[in-house]
Amino acid sequence: MGIGIPKIQKHMYNSRIAGLGYYVPEKVVTNDDLSKLMDTSDEWIQERTGIKERRHIIKGEETTSSMGVKAAKMAISNAGLTPNDIDFIVFATLSPDYYFPGPGVMVQRDLEMNTVGAVDIRNQCSGFVYGLSLADQYIKSGMYKNVLVIGSEVHSTGLDMTTRGRDVSVIFGDGAGSVVLTREENLEKGILSSHLHSEGRHAEELSVIAPAMGTRWVTEIIEENDPDDTSYFPYMNGKFVFKNAVVRFSEVIKEGLEKNKLGVEDIDMLIPHQANLRIAQFIQKKFRLSDDQVYNNIMYYGNTTAASIPIALAEAVEKGKVKDGDLVILAAFGSGFTWGSVVIRW
Ligand code: UT7
Repeated sequence: MGIGIPKIQKHMYNSRIAGLGYYVPEKVVTNDDLSKLMDTSDEWIQERTGIKERRHIIKGEETTSSMGVKAAKMAISNAGLTPNDIDFIVFATLSPDYYFPGPGVMVQRDLEMNTVGAVDIRNQCSGFVYGLSLADQYIKSGMYKNVLVIGSEVHSTGLDMTTRGRDVSVIFGDGAGSVVLTREENLEKGILSSHLHSEGRHAEELSVIAPAMGTRWVTEIIEENDPDDTSYFPYMNGKFVFKNAVVRFSEVIKEGLEKNKLGVEDIDMLIPHQANLRIAQFIQKKFRLSDDQVYNNIMYYGNTTAASIPIALAEAVEKGKVKDGDLVILAAFGSGFTWGSVVIRW
């Protein structure tokens, strides 16, 4: 009996998205609603961002974790699974219910799951792409079979709804999206690769610069706090972020294609993080993609940060815009800066 030399394989399993879900609060906030609170207009917002309306929670009714749980329930049921089939939870958000613990454990609690592991991801607009990449590696290594990935955000409670904050507060919305990533034996199918990056020298360009409680005495912060203290509100150097976003989106999409020896013509569906319709249109034009090859819903939800890609992906699948065998690319860019892409054979 000869000793066979094992065939060197990249990994034993692939991972594929088996179920998707999303949840957005019922309350619609139009551009006209915002122009009652601050000096802005429907015309300015639509022209600069493409946004017509966004969803905001009603105080006390929803939190980041409660919306995440709703999206997760839908994803688990669409995958034909029950919460106890889930082996691991990945929760991406910049707006956790509590300073700590993060919302991952609340999903374990509220879905009455086994005491599986739960990790919280803090990569803002790239959070879902980072989370999906992490889940993919757990599955490819054989460690887990079904991983729940959630992106959920409540922005509305933390925005400066006066003219002072208008360049940021008109953009962001609340919502949640989720997928169940599952083991796939066919290595040609599912997540082909993921690509993650960061550049911390731009950390402050899109940030909440209020010092973390770990580094400041909270009494000091409260003592110093006054109505002119904007450090608790998100700050964004919009033009700078925009310029970096278009470059990094392009790079990371190309990186994903090249890694898989694919070309732009192979893209069936690009789901960009919904940061600004103009960014998505720029990328679409640059890669010469048709309207059918790019999915946008920022018009209706604004920028929901870590939730934007899973909401858009779930909607695109629900509308039949993603078919078996399609090449789907997810791409994100945001605060950190961090950015990334995931290449999927559906
Ligand atoms: O999700 C993470 C990634 N985020 C992004 O990628 C976002 C990137 N940046 C952007 O989307 C855009 O830069 C913004 C939408 C934030 C701003 O658009 P812009 O075309 O860069 O406008 P601007 O900041 O240069 O502002 C133009 C003018 C200014 O007035 P002056 O200085 O020309 O008199 C602003 O004060 O528009 C004014 N402005 C507004 N006017 C009405 C800023 N915000 C508003 C507003 N309503 N909401």
